[in-house]
Amino acid sequence: MVKSRKPDFKIRRYKNTDKENCRTLWRELVEWHREIYAAPTIGGDHPEDYFDRYLTKFGEDKIWVALKENNVIGFAGLVIEDEEFKIEPIVVARPFRGKGAGKQLVQIVMTEAQRLNAKQLIVEPVMRNTAAIKFYHALGFVNAGQVQLFIDFSGKKWVKSLKMHDLKFDY
Ligand SMILES: CC(C)(COP(=O)(O)OP(=O)(O)OC[C@H]1O[C@@H](n2cnc3c(N)ncnc32)[C@H](O)[C@@H]1OP(=O)(O)O)[C@@H](O)C(=O)NCCC(=O)NCCS
Repeated sequence: MVKSRKPDFKIRRYKNTDKENCRTLWRELVEWHREIYAAPTIGGDHPEDYFDRYLTKFGEDKIWVALKENNVIGFAGLVIEDEEFKIEPIVVARPFRGKGAGKQLVQIVMTEAQRLNAKQLIVEPVMRNTAAIKFYHALGFVNAGQVQLFIDFSGKKWVKSLKMHDLKFDY
């Protein structure tokens, strides 16, 4: 069951003055993936530029930011493509993780998705991102859809071992 706690963060829609903060948060999102994969080159030299590409592709009207004392400390986007509704991306600045901001962001995206008559709301964390998987699971994302499997020709090291349907996988 999801514990209830007093909302600590203000959530509001994205404004274009939030752009630099969201670019920095996108960098944090990439840095987190660099860390969990021990791969410092993920995202290239300017990972924050992905936020600009996101804005170009999806616009800015379905992005929400979390504020602590008027500072943007997290944001989440709702992407709607081919009648699929996805939370993409979501990130909270490291010092504020585990304090409920992510949950508040997910809740507002859920509300918007339901308002738009979504039948499902999808999240696609990488399998290595166990923290995000636990986070989403705690918030009710308990249905598992498609699984992406691959053969790695690069010799990269993967974590052993994940069990699914009595089979072992590395992630
Ligand atoms: C994933 C992320 C957005 C979660 O936001 P957050 O503000 O840290 O999460 P919250 O504090 O709102 O957590 C809500 C609930 O999720 C669960 N949860 C959160 N982080 C967890 C973790 N690391 N391990 C286990 N459960 C966790 C808890 O049940 C928590 O409730 P509780 O603290 O009251 O028990 C944030 O940690 C983050 O930015 N991570 C790096 C980027 C990332 O991985 N983004 C997702 C990519 S798909």
